[in-house]
Amino acid sequence: MKMRRLGRTDFFVSAVGLGGWPFGGGYDWGPVDSAQAEKAVLAALDAGINLVDTAPVYGESEAFLGRVLKGRRSQIVLATKCGLAKNGSWTDHDLSPQTIRRQLDESLSRLQTDYIDLYQIHYPDPQIPLEEALLELARQKQAGKIRHIGLCNMTAEDVARAARVTEIASVQNEYSLFHPQKGEAVFKACREAEASFISYGTLCGGILSGKYKTAPNLRRADARNYFYKCYRAEAFLQAQETAERVKQLAAHLQVSPAAVAVAWALSNQTVSCALTGARTAEQILQNAAGADVTLTPQDLAFLEGRSCTCTK
Ligand SMILES: NC(=O)c1ccc[n+]([C@@H]2O[C@H](COP(=O)([O-])OP(=O)(O)OC[C@H]3O[C@@H](n4cnc5c(N)ncnc54)[C@H](OP(=O)(O)O)[C@@H]3O)[C@@H](O)[C@H]2O)c1
Repeated sequence: MKMRRLGRTDFFVSAVGLGGWPFGGGYDWGPVDSAQAEKAVLAALDAGINLVDTAPVYGESEAFLGRVLKGRRSQIVLATKCGLAKNGSWTDHDLSPQTIRRQLDESLSRLQTDYIDLYQIHYPDPQIPLEEALLELARQKQAGKIRHIGLCNMTAEDVARAARVTEIASVQNEYSLFHPQKGEAVFKACREAEASFISYGTLCGGILSGKYKTAPNLRRADARNYFYKCYRAEAFLQAQETAERVKQLAAHLQVSPAAVAVAWALSNQTVSCALTGARTAEQILQNAAGADVTLTPQDLAFLEGRSCTCTK
């Protein structure tokens, strides 16, 4: 597994990371086969994956990972988040210092650890200035409960603002072939802040693995319906065109489509880690293999549905 430095910290993270959202089951992802899920985590570690990402709002994910990772803590760069709370079917934003302190202590308890390697603001809170939340995170870092601070779902302006307050190790935003960032701005802001970019939704919830011939019949509340939004009508057809190109290139390169989708994200030099969720060991091993796939400029142009003007 290729390793990349996390921001300007002394941590190295695997180019492919394990996303913990689908392990949360329940409302967002439906029932979890915990024996299969445990095998997926162990296969990820065996494949050299060390970054494991979760969040308090991911249902049972933190508690599940706390149990499975017990005894392996030193092998892992454990990443979780603060600032969102489930309130029935609604999600509240709260980055007040007292909520950060409470959520951090609850995460430490569920994850059965006394420190978080990468503690990330999950979303901006319109009521609380980013600076106020970051100062609380800096205090928790000083206290030793967190090692490094990260951001999620932030604009280039947010990243620049945050970097003026404290050291930002990473920025985690959605990034996939079906959801490229608009423009270079966030990547440029990451480079200026010397922060790593971590992609999430790299497979667009699984669609870029190319496994769907027709739109899956998902519950209305399924994360793929309300979050990724490419499982519905028009969007599904567009995503299928992209997934079809991924499948064609994968067949040519003799790797899995999921590995190609991961390799596409990693072909962006600012991306340190591509997160993928997985329900089984087989899935995470396919995704991990994406770290070893090198795509040519022609491959990238083909995947992005544009003509290649490059000469080699
Ligand atoms: N910061 C944020 O706001 C934010 C938001 C979203 C996600 N994230 C993080 O990013 C991680 C990754 O995103 P994600 O889990 O939402 O979506 P994802 O990685 O795009 O998709 C994961 C799902 O795709 C399917 N899949 C994975 N590998 C596959 C393979 N090789 N072949 C076929 N199907 C495969 C599995 O579901 P099925 O088997 O059910 O199809 C799996 O649960 C999350 O787990 C979370 O840690 C962060």
